[in-house]
Amino acid sequence: MTSTKWLVCALVVVCVSMRQVSAAPAPQEQEYPPMPYEYKYDVEDQEKALYFGANESGDAQGKVVGGYKVLLPDGRLMTVEYTVEGESGFVPKISFEDNASPFGKGK
Ligand SMILES: *[C@@H]1O[C@H](CO)[C@@H](O)[C@H](O)[C@H]1NC(C)=O
Repeated sequence: MTSTKWLVCALVVVCVSMRQVSAAPAPQEQEYPPMPYEYKYDVEDQEKALYFGANESGDAQGKVVGGYKVLLPDGRLMTVEYTVEGESGFVPKISFEDNASPFGKGK
């Protein structure tokens, strides 16, 4: 092998071993307890027939309760309410309201 080829080989080895170093798992991050949080948004635009919204809140025990709603093109309002808690995981409850005309009903 010429010395140039050797140099290329050496570079490849260095790159591969650097990659392995950076791919190594990061040191264990400290675990913080869940932070309580809450969010909510609603979009209502009757002209554009846009009606949807969502909300979610989580408590310090890691339990999450939320829901979302969306007015479907066929006039049904789909509502999903869900909880996420411990072993039971994500539990959704889905309901539909036919011929919903939710606009301007307020919150
Ligand atoms: C959250 O969203 C669900 C589904 O749309 C709704 O039933 C519930 O009233 C909402 N809660 C709040 C606090 O807005």
